[in-house]
Amino acid sequence: MSLFNQYKKTYQEGKTLPQNFYTDENIFSEEMKSVYFQQWLMVDHVSRIKEPGNYFVFEAEKESIIIIRGRDNEIRAFYNVCTHRGSRICLDEEGSKNLLVCPYHAWSFSSEGKLKAARHMPDDFVKEDYGLKKCHLQIFEGLIFINLSMDTPMDFDEFIAPLKEIISFHNTGRSKIVSRKKYPTKANFKLVLENFQECYHCSNAHPEFSAVHEKDWVYTMGAGLGTAPEKDTEEYLKKISPWLEDCKKKGIPSETYLETEDGLKQGLNRYVDRTPIGNGHLSQTKSGKPASKLMGKFKDFDGGLSQVSFNPFSCCYFTNDFGVMFVFKPNSTLESEVELIWLVNEDAKEGHDFNVDDITFIWDVTTQEDTMIIENNQKGLLSQSFTPGVLSENESAVTYFYNWYFTNMQLPSS
Ligand code: FES
Ligand code: FE
Repeated sequence: MSLFNQYKKTYQEGKTLPQNFYTDENIFSEEMKSVYFQQWLMVDHVSRIKEPGNYFVFEAEKESIIIIRGRDNEIRAFYNVCTHRGSRICLDEEGSKNLLVCPYHAWSFSSEGKLKAARHMPDDFVKEDYGLKKCHLQIFEGLIFINLSMDTPMDFDEFIAPLKEIISFHNTGRSKIVSRKKYPTKANFKLVLENFQECYHCSNAHPEFSAVHEKDWVYTMGAGLGTAPEKDTEEYLKKISPWLEDCKKKGIPSETYLETEDGLKQGLNRYVDRTPIGNGHLSQTKSGKPASKLMGKFKDFDGGLSQVSFNPFSCCYFTNDFGVMFVFKPNSTLESEVELIWLVNEDAKEGHDFNVDDITFIWDVTTQEDTMIIENNQKGLLSQSFTPGVLSENESAVTYFYNWYFTNMQLPSS
C-alpha cells in the first residue's frame, strides 16, 4: 500500500488532515508528481516580457523554468537546465538576452531554445539534438500558464473554456502589471491553500479586508460559495439578486461556475463568481473609491468583485478597475511562496489614473496577515500534541479542497 493510502486511512471526514500529510517528505514528493505537476498553473502576465529576448524565471519546488519571448515574438517555456551537464543557465530572476549562455562551459542557446554554440565537441556531435527542453506553455488573454507534466497535459482549451467569458470581459489581454510582491511562507503548501478556501478566519484575522467588504459578504462569500452554511448563503444571494439582475441586463457575466461532476472526477477544481463588494464601495480599496480607470468591457463602476479560480494554486480577483493574480508555489515540505501580481488597464497612467499603493493596499495587508496565521498554524501542527480538529460550518470548502487533493493523488499521473 502506498504511503498516501496508508495515511489516508487515518483521515476522518469533517476534520483537518492528520499531521503526517503536512510533514512527510515522501508525501510531498508524491504530491508534486500527482498534484502540482498535473495542473495548468497561472504563472505571470505577458506584459512582463514585452520585447524579444525578455525573459523571467519561474521557480517552484526543484524546478526552474525560463519563460522567454523569442526573436519571432513567440513566448516559450524551457527548463532552466543546460543540456550539456545540467547546470542552471539563467541565474537572474529576469532580464533580456538574445543568447542564453550557460555559466559553466558557455554552451549558448538562442531565445528560441536552439543550441547555437558548444566548443570543442566531437565531430559526430549534432547541435540540433541538444536544444533546451520545452515546458508546456499556453497563453489566454495575457495570462501565462505552464504545465510541468513530462507527458501530454490536459487539453488547455477544454480546461479554460468555462472561465473564458469572465476573463475576456475583464480583458486581461489589454492590461499591464503595476506591482508584484512575494510572500515566502514557512508552511506546507496545503496549509497555504486551505487558508484560502475559508473565511472563518477573516473577521478575526483581517480587520482591513473586513472593513472594506460588507459583513454578510465576508460571512457568506468571502472564500466563494461554501464559505457559510447553505441557508445563510441563499439568504445573501436573495438580497443581492437585484444587483445580479442588473449585471445580466448590462451583459456583465455574473453566473457562478462550480466544478462539474465530470470535472471533479478529472481532478479539476475551477470556480467563478461575481458579487458586490458592498458598503457602497466601488473598488477593493481602503476608501472604497475607484483605484484606476475602468478595465475591460465595463462602461461604469458597479462595485463588483469577480473571483476566478483555475485551481487551488492559481486564481484572480477583479474589480471594475484592477486585477490581482495569486500564484501559490510549493517549495519544500515546510516552505511555500505566494506571489501577487497586480494588473490595471494598459492605458492607465501612474499618478494620473492610479496610485500603486491604493491598488495594492487590501491584498498586501491581507496576505501579510495570512502569512502570519499560516506560519503559526504550521508551528502548532508540528507539536507532538497535535491531533486533527473538527472543521466548522464555515469551513466546508476545506473538505471540498481535501477531496480535490485526494482525487488528484489517486488519479494515474501522466
Ligand atoms: Fe552548461 Fe556545461 S553544463 S555548458
Ligand atoms: Fe485570509
